[in-house]
Parts: sequence; C-alpha cells; structure tokens
Amino acid sequence: MFTCQYKPLNLYKAQGDMKIITIIGARPQIIKAAAISRAIREKYADKIQEIIVHTGQHYDENMSEVFFDELKIPRPNYNLQVGSGNHGLQTAKMLEGIEEIILKEKPNAVLVYGDTNSTVAGGLAASKLLIPLVHIEAGLRSFNKSMPEEINRIACDHMSTLLFSPTLQGLDNLKKEGFKTDNKAPYTIDNPRVYHCGDIMFDNSLYFSELASDRSIIKELDLKPGFVLSTIHRNNNTDDPKRLTAIFEALNSITEQYQKQLVLPLHPRTHKMMDQNLPADLRKKIESNQLIKIIPPVSFLDVIALEKNAGIVVTDSGGVQKEAFFFQKPCLILRPETEWVEIVENGNAILCDADKDRMLNAFAAFEKRTDLTYPNLFGDGKASEFICGEILQHLG
Ligand code: UD1
Ligand code: UDP
Repeated sequence: MFTCQYKPLNLYKAQGDMKIITIIGARPQIIKAAAISRAIREKYADKIQEIIVHTGQHYDENMSEVFFDELKIPRPNYNLQVGSGNHGLQTAKMLEGIEEIILKEKPNAVLVYGDTNSTVAGGLAASKLLIPLVHIEAGLRSFNKSMPEEINRIACDHMSTLLFSPTLQGLDNLKKEGFKTDNKAPYTIDNPRVYHCGDIMFDNSLYFSELASDRSIIKELDLKPGFVLSTIHRNNNTDDPKRLTAIFEALNSITEQYQKQLVLPLHPRTHKMMDQNLPADLRKKIESNQLIKIIPPVSFLDVIALEKNAGIVVTDSGGVQKEAFFFQKPCLILRPETEWVEIVENGNAILCDADKDRMLNAFAAFEKRTDLTYPNLFGDGKASEFICGEILQHLG
C-alpha cells in the first residue's frame, strides 16, 4: 500500500481569522497562486492565513521552482512530491496526501484553481471531509469530455461552495447546469454561490507586465519584431503522431513562407513526445531551420516579455491564448474548441485544431488584418481582492 510522503516545510506562517488551504501543482496554478497570495499579503494578512500545498504534479525547476521567487509566492508549506503518472495513480496519491493535511490543519476552506488533476484531487479531498471548496476559474467548459480537464472542471464545480467564474460565458454555463444566481447566504455545497468576477490572470498580467519590460530574453534570443511565439503541450496534440506532425509542418511552413522567426518554449511533455512522434525528416528540417528557436520552458516574466514583443501567438495553451489577448496579439488556437470563446467570437483568435491548412489560412488572414479590437472582457485587474473578500465574508 502506497504511503504518501509529504514534507511539512512550515516556512510561511501567518495569523488570521480564517485558515485556507490552497492546492497548487501544475505550472499555471503556481502562477495563479501569485495573484491570490498577493491579495492576501496586501489586504488580508491579518485576517486570512494561507497554507499552500504543492502536489508536485510539476516538478522540473523551470516548471515549478522558477516561479516562487520571481512572482513572490510564499513557499509551499507542504510538497506532496507526487510527480508524473497515469491519471488514476497521480490523482489518488494527491488525494491521499491532501486528505491527511486537511485533517491535520483543519482549514475553514480549501481553494483550487483551474482544471488539472491537482484541482480535482483537492476538490474531492475537501468535499468528502465537508470542508467548503472554493473554485477559481469555475464554469469554463469545452463541451468535450474526452479532455481530462473537462471532467476535472465539471466535477470540481459541482463539489464547490463558492464558484468564481472569470467570464460571463462561464457564469452562463453554470446556470445551464442548474446553479442559481439569486440564492442567499449561508452558502454550502448544497446552496453554492456563483460569481462572475473577472480573471485573476488578468490581474497578474497587469501586475507583472511592467516588471517584464527589463527582461533580456528578446535580446538574448536575437528576436526581431513580429516573431511568432508558440507553445504546445495539450495531450491530444503531443500524443498523436498525426496531429503533432501537422502542427510542426505548419510551423515550419509559416517560418519559411513569411521569413519570420518562431520561438517555442517547450513543455517537457512535448519534448518527450517529439522524439517519439515526429518523423525523422521533419525533425531534421526543424532542427536545421535557423528561424525556429526551441528553448526550455521560460519564467513567467520571460513569457510576458515574449508575448508583448511577438507579432502573433500560436498555442494550444489555455493560459497563453488568453495572455495573447491581454497583450493584444492575434492567436491561432491549436484545438478544436476553446473555453475562452469570447476571444474567438471577437475575432482575436482562430480555432485551427491541429490542421495544417487551417493554421496556414488563419496565419495568412491575421497577416492582413489591421482592424482587431481588444475590448475589456476579463475584469478590472482586481478579481483576486474581490475573491478574498468574499471568501472571508462567507467562509471565515
Ligand atoms: C497538466 C494538466 C493540464 C495543464 C498542464 C499545464 C492535467 C490532467 N493536465 O498537463 O491541464 O494544461 O498541466 O502545463 O492535470 N513532465 C516533466 N516534468 C514536469 C512535469 C511534467 O517531465 O515538471 C512530463 C512527464 O513526462 C509527464 C508529462 O510531462 O508525464 C505530463 O505531465 P502532467 O502533469 O501529467 O500533464 P501535463 O501535460 O503537464
Ligand atoms: N508559461 C510560462 N513559461 C512557459 C510557457 C508558459 O510561464 O515557458 C505560462 C504562461 O504564461 C501561462 C501559463 O504558463 O500563464 C500557462 O500554462 P500552460 O500553458 O502550461 O497550461 P494551461 O494554461 O494550458 O493549463
């Protein structure tokens, strides 16, 4: 029988009226935690004590450690060091470890972000122990249950007591699943409260944008204005040789046809799967293409510097497609659908799936467009403060 090893680090201690346990694990959640931790530090330090639990889902230095100092995120109080594995095994190890910590810490609430296995493990552990769950990024739906993330989000929303949706579409999705918007406190898992509150990643992008101006990455990589920024990591793209090949053929063609540089900070999953799933001749072409720069994953400030200076973004990442919008860059989305439908409906992003022709056509279309607008769809940059205030009021 597996025994979960966790390391209590106890480096961060605060006193407050209420104690929340925040679960993080994958890269985007570590970055999201910066926003809520900052709001607690700046506005609620005397009222909210935050205990951070890192499941260890992401563990490479550049997928985890790099963010803590750079974004001033308190060190995790616990690291479960779960690592990689099949969904069941990985989630089960997390669940076992998180349950133990909840029993020990007796928090007023557990907070989870997004839609990863760390999110659903936190949700299950909390709700089974009758601890109110707070879900940040609630209501997002791809309506594609073959995505592991779709299962995680739906499950989490239905285990939550406070649900914070970043978009109006998210709120609408929740209403269609039976969540009420006119119910009164006290809120519980059976009487949950749903909010439309803006996006904490918009808070982060505004907050860190200026700090990113000093980064030397553009110079170091010798990138010229108008370069293409790409990220790829979605399992259905990396693990399917046909899809991965189509994507890389299109990226290669774009650089040759438009003589544009392309920078690709490579997720470790994609790194591994490229070896396995790309034909040798295509690999050779990519490796010898001077316009393509494949680099290890970069820090959040570096990715912001890349997003601000790029001409266009090509990605299957949820976070990066939205950040392209925040920094007013058109985006090719390498998925059949997106949860961030607003940016597609407004014309700022085009869904290309993993289809070479659709990618090339979308790229050509954006090369000609000069009339794109970027309305304010993601709040006022203060979503994190609002969320902390509501947590304190209703669960403190
Ligand atoms: C996970 C999330 C996905 C999210 C992404 C953010 C789930 C089901 N998926 O996908 O929603 O968009 O994180 O990046 O939770 N690996 C390393 N080093 C690391 C981390 C991963 O080498 O630090 C490799 C391992 O081979 C691992 C693979 O990447 O098996 C996949 O990692 P995993 O966390 O399972 O899923 P992601 O694809 O990262
Ligand atoms: N990101 C980063 N370094 C990189 C690539 C991405 O810091 O090399 C950031 C990116 O800015 C965004 C987040 O990671 O905030 C998105 O994470 P990812 O694409 O891994 O996951 P998703 O958002 O699709 O769940």
